[in-house]
Parts: sequence; C-alpha cells; structure tokens
Amino acid sequence: MTRFNEYNSLFFVINLFMLCSAVRSDLNADFYKQTCPDLLKIVRKEVKDALKIEMRMAASLLRLHFVDCFVNGCDASILLDGSNSEKFATPNLNSVRGFQVVDAVKSAVESACSGVVSCADILALIARDSVLLSGGPTWKVLLGRRDGLVPNQRGANLAIPSQYDTLDTIISKFANVGLNVTDVVSLSGAHTIGRARCATFSKRLWNFFNTGGPDSTMEKDMLSDLQHVCLVNGDGNKTTALDRNSNDLFDNHYYQNLLDGKGLLYSDQILFNGGDDETKSVVDNYRRKPKLFFDDFIKSMIKMGNIGPVTGSSGQIRKNCRVIN
Ligand code: HEM
Ligand SMILES: *[C@@H]1O[C@H](CO)[C@@H](O)[C@H](O)[C@H]1NC(C)=O
Ligand SMILES: *[C@@H]1O[C@H](CO)[C@@H](O)[C@H](O)[C@H]1NC(C)=O
Repeated sequence: MTRFNEYNSLFFVINLFMLCSAVRSDLNADFYKQTCPDLLKIVRKEVKDALKIEMRMAASLLRLHFVDCFVNGCDASILLDGSNSEKFATPNLNSVRGFQVVDAVKSAVESACSGVVSCADILALIARDSVLLSGGPTWKVLLGRRDGLVPNQRGANLAIPSQYDTLDTIISKFANVGLNVTDVVSLSGAHTIGRARCATFSKRLWNFFNTGGPDSTMEKDMLSDLQHVCLVNGDGNKTTALDRNSNDLFDNHYYQNLLDGKGLLYSDQILFNGGDDETKSVVDNYRRKPKLFFDDFIKSMIKMGNIGPVTGSSGQIRKNCRVIN
C-alpha cells in the first residue's frame, strides 16, 4: 500500500514535470515591467480611443492576432508590407483591417520606451483589450515575443482556415499549430463580435455547393434577410454582423445562434451541424454556460498566443511594425 502510494506520487510528480515542459513557454506577464512600466496603460488607452471612433475595430484587431499566430507563430508577420505580405493572402485579402490602429499604438509605445516592445506583443495586448472592452473576459497576457523577419504569404494561404473548409480541415489546421478541438470551438466564439463580407457567405444564400438552392441549415428568416443584403452578383464587400443578436458585445450568444441555425459563416454553422458530436456538444456547453466559455476562451487565447514565439536573440524588435529594421 505504502509502495503503491510512493509510486503514485512519483508518477504524479513526473507527470506534472512533463506537463509543465509541454506547455512551458519563454513568455511571462512581467517581461516589460522594468523596461516599459506603463506599457499596458498605453495600449489600453489607444485601443479605447480607437473603439470610440468605431466599435467594430475591436473585432478587426482581435482577428489580426489570430491570423498572425497561425503563420510563422505570433511574430507580427501579418503586419509586414511588401509583395509577399500576408495581407494579400486569400483569407486576408480585402478583409484584414486595423493596421492604422496598430501603428498608432506602436508609436505611442515607442514614445514612452523606444526600441523595447515587439509588435507581436503589442498585437497580443491589443487583442486582449479588444475582448475586454467589448464586454468579454480578461486575462494576463504573456509577453516577450520578438518580431519575425519575413512575411509568409504562401504559409498564410495554407495555414489560415477558410470559411468553406470542412470541419475536419479546420480541426487539422488548428492541430497543426497545437490547438485541439475544444480550442476550435472556443476560439470560433470570437465571431460573437465583428462583421463579415457577403463574399464570404453568399454562396450559402443562393447556390450552396452547386445545389441550386440555399444552405438548408440556415434559419429561414435570417436567410431571407440576408438574401436582401447580399444580392446575386451584388457588392461582395458589403458587410453584415457575425452575431446578429449582439453585434458589438462579446458574449456567448454566438453558440445559441448555432443551435438556432443562425451561424453566418459555413465554418460557424458546421461546428453544430457538421456531424461531429464533439464540437456539437462543446457548442451546447458554451451556450448554456457563459462562464465556461469565457474560461475556455482565455485558455485558448493564451495557447494561441504561445504558438511558435520568436524569443531569445532570434528576430528583432521592429521600430515600425510594417517593415523590418
Ligand atoms: C475557425 C476558423 C475560422 C474561420 C474559417 C474564420 C473565417 C472568418 C471570415 C471569413 C471572416 C469574415 C472576413 C470578411 O468578411 O472579410 C472572419 C471574421 C472574423 N474573425 Fe474569423 N475565422 C476563424 C477563426 C477565428 C478565430 C480563431 C478568431 C479569433 C480568435 C477569429 C476572429 C474573427 C473576428 C473578430 C472577425 C470579425 C472581423 C471584423 O469585423 O473586422 N476568427 N473570420
Ligand atoms: C484541449 O486543450 C485544453 C488545454 O488547453 C484541455 O484542457 C482540453 O482537455 C483539451 N481538449 C481535448 C479534447 O483534448
Ligand atoms: C472589394 O473592395 C476592393 C477594394 O477594397 C476591391 O479591389 C475588390 O474588387 C472588391 N471586391 C468585391 C468582391 O467587390
């Protein structure tokens, strides 16, 4: 009995050790405590100012952290301009926005502590503040990322999920960066804020995968509303709310929408109707338990923020987020 307990606690210690090294990251919340003590305040103020002008900006900024982290890790590669820019990758083209706000935050940070804070860390802080200022949860952002030196447009085309990917493809694109099925469902909850262009969902309204009719999983009133917003051969850049119930509020209503057939993107609705019992049950859990959604969203955001960070002496601290030094 004693021996059993000894083995048991030995295993426990070993497991704990393995777990710690598996999720170990070189990032920490106090990274700039000495070198840029007012960093968090500066970022918060700039994000607040931007949201006063346009509330949707919170969504656009949150999305930037996601599309950055999925390509070459969270290294601010999305911010680099030039012909190989990730801004021109298919999932991002005419779609990602908020770069002027990032520039404004960066220059406010540079005025206070020049050459110290990476653009990648700024994106992570901006994403957290955007969620919080939209009524969502908050968390301590781990810091200490460095900025990458090259954009990867091809990588962006391959790694960033598309709205018409199958659920299996989406799950494997998340798995490729170390995120699991729960992370797929919790992070998709980001679509509780922001807007999407007709070009990204209009196939569902008119000729769904060449069926000659609409996607049968879409709720009928929403379908007819959207058919008036996104006309056949209409303006593909016209936008509508991802969460029609509470567009600017970061809440868990996104999941109720999925139960009601009111997911806007195909990639949203298949989390519930895609034939995967696991995603379906997580959707139902988050719908019923807002606190569980918030807690899991935080965990998944931290996990996403840890994807392939550039640390140590690799990379650099960019002076201007759009170009390498
Ligand atoms: C699961 C795979 C995902 C797919 C297929 C996907 C796809 C899309 C698409 C197509 C749009 C609309 C873009 C446009 O109309 O121009 C969009 C918007 C958005 N996405 Fe995702 N997304 C995914 C995951 C995520 C994740 C993980 C986050 C953040 C954690 C996120 C945050 C957002 C936000 C906030 C918007 C609104 C942006 C705005 O209003 O400017 N998405 N997404
Ligand atoms: C996914 O990862 C989280 C930790 O981030 C863990 O709590 C959860 O159990 C994992 N889920 C699955 C389905 O493996
Ligand atoms: C959307 O707007 C961009 C310019 O911002 C334009 O180049 C593009 O052709 C438009 N796309 C659609 C589908 O109308």
